[in-house]
Amino acid sequence: MCGIIGILGRTDVAPAIVEGLKRLEYRGYDSAGVAAVHQGRLDRRRASGKLANLEAVLAERPLPGAAGIGHTRWATHGAPTETNAHPHATERVSVVHNGIIENFAVLRRELQEKGRRFESETDAEVCPQLITHYLETENLSPAQAFHKAISRLKGAFAFVAIFAGEDDLMIGARRGSPLAVGRGHGEIFIGSDAYALAPFSNRVTYLDEGDWVVATRAGFQVYDAAGAPVVRKETISSAADALVDKDGHRHFMAKEIHEQPEVIAHTLSRYLDPASETMRLPEGAFDFARLDRLTVSACGTAYYAGLISKYWFETWAGLPVEIDIASELRYRDVPYTEGGGALFVSQSGETADTLAALREARARGQKIAAVVNVPESSIAREADVIFPMAAGPEIGVASTKAFTCQLAALACIAVAAGRARGRLDAEAERALVRALLETPRLVAEALAGAGEIEAIAREIAEARDVLYVGRGVNFPLALEGALKLKEISYIHAEGYAAGELKHGPIALIDKDVPVIVVAPRDALYEKTISNMHEVMARGGKALLISDREGIAEAGDGLWRAIETPTVHPLLAPVVYAAPIQLLAYYTATAKGTDVDQPRNLAKSVTVE
Ligand code: F6R
Repeated sequence: MCGIIGILGRTDVAPAIVEGLKRLEYRGYDSAGVAAVHQGRLDRRRASGKLANLEAVLAERPLPGAAGIGHTRWATHGAPTETNAHPHATERVSVVHNGIIENFAVLRRELQEKGRRFESETDAEVCPQLITHYLETENLSPAQAFHKAISRLKGAFAFVAIFAGEDDLMIGARRGSPLAVGRGHGEIFIGSDAYALAPFSNRVTYLDEGDWVVATRAGFQVYDAAGAPVVRKETISSAADALVDKDGHRHFMAKEIHEQPEVIAHTLSRYLDPASETMRLPEGAFDFARLDRLTVSACGTAYYAGLISKYWFETWAGLPVEIDIASELRYRDVPYTEGGGALFVSQSGETADTLAALREARARGQKIAAVVNVPESSIAREADVIFPMAAGPEIGVASTKAFTCQLAALACIAVAAGRARGRLDAEAERALVRALLETPRLVAEALAGAGEIEAIAREIAEARDVLYVGRGVNFPLALEGALKLKEISYIHAEGYAAGELKHGPIALIDKDVPVIVVAPRDALYEKTISNMHEVMARGGKALLISDREGIAEAGDGLWRAIETPTVHPLLAPVVYAAPIQLLAYYTATAKGTDVDQPRNLAKSVTVE
């Protein structure tokens, strides 16, 4: 993963690079570094841990130079130490890298045999070493050496390099990982995304797959993989408009949880017309009437949103859905049918596994649609049609508002599909539109219970293991609940279909294991409650999430209960997500973990 940035500026650029890196920390935050050319010489500062550590190093030992690069890392090869932190450098060139160089071991051995000495354990270091080798042995220009070096690399990556003796030169390359170039007044910026460039420039050019770019302060030239000069379109980015403060909350995650009523409403407004109570999909969307199957794929939380949508597409549209985790789908021999549809779900639009699965589906003749939050992302740009979600920037690493906005968009698409396939008549469509329009208010009501949830979370924080169970459309929500809890509180948690408990997991039940039961009063309520009683009969402590009647009817012996508003049974996940998220959030705050940037994670997972 990692975030990279490069600036050809007019004054010392290290402070601006750190500013840009702060906006890229979502891509990884286990070490960081910056390098610059000053009076012809390369120098760098690096630190393990968060960006704040690098800032402290720079405060003590400022880094002069008006041409510089910076990096925030999510370790793939080599521990997150200072030595493994980027930029990696020789005396001739300094490089920041995002991605994985798959053939680095072979190249490293080859270069070592030629006498080159490596200092880190990273795959990235082969890049400056290889460029230096070509500069020194073949007398190539920096651009020629750079191009020759990247032509030898296998894998997915983005690079930016600066060179000793060249304080008006910066070269970048993109293969697999995104890279954008921003134009300023006599300044050039290169970064992993437009959001990182937003403080400096809104005139952004995205490199295409295989492109590389040679920049000076006067401008830049993009080349394709073969080395031919090409022109890529400049767009005006709106990334600078994105509000990124905590708005009085302690964490971005809390702010994002509480934003949900508003952003769900925004997302719904992209799809439904409240006046006519009908759905409308973006132009070029699938011809659902003729589709015989829909393939849905995503990773993590986005996958769980996709899994919930499977129930919707089946029930409302009678549309068979093939769904798999993107990292699996891509390597399976899926029997795609000619002219089929494939739908990918991604907040960032940069998740490498999802992007790879999308490309595979396209190569197999599928029409590609994507539910994405970032309209300028790679997935958005590669899809035939985009189904937008209006979540706004999600900064907390644990996905919250993006999840419910994904659900809102997917529910609308499924209703539209149902209408197109004749499974829903106009009245059924109107009823579902009304039910969807209710969800922002119901989520707000569910969020109002935060105080009680916080008290329960203090008790959950004592647990070593937690189980989540649900049935039907709430089974994926149980999976999401467990994921949310483990990723930010580090408590071991698993989600199960409630009916599966007795097939194995019930062996885990004892008095110390809280079992969180997601059971709205739907057609499966009684069955789920029976499963809950099986847990209680074995000494397990059950926390029931249901509406007032659901809690009253559940009988005695509950350990705790969280009351939620009554909601359309199939839309329960949109509303029940709120207590699930709050429970994880308050458990993590009770444990004192780093809620917005939990250990080992990154917001945008751009490696496979
Ligand atoms: C968990 C979480 C991740 C992401 C996953 C996919 O809270 O955020 O599981 O959902 O990495 O990310 P996107 O949606 O950006 O493709």
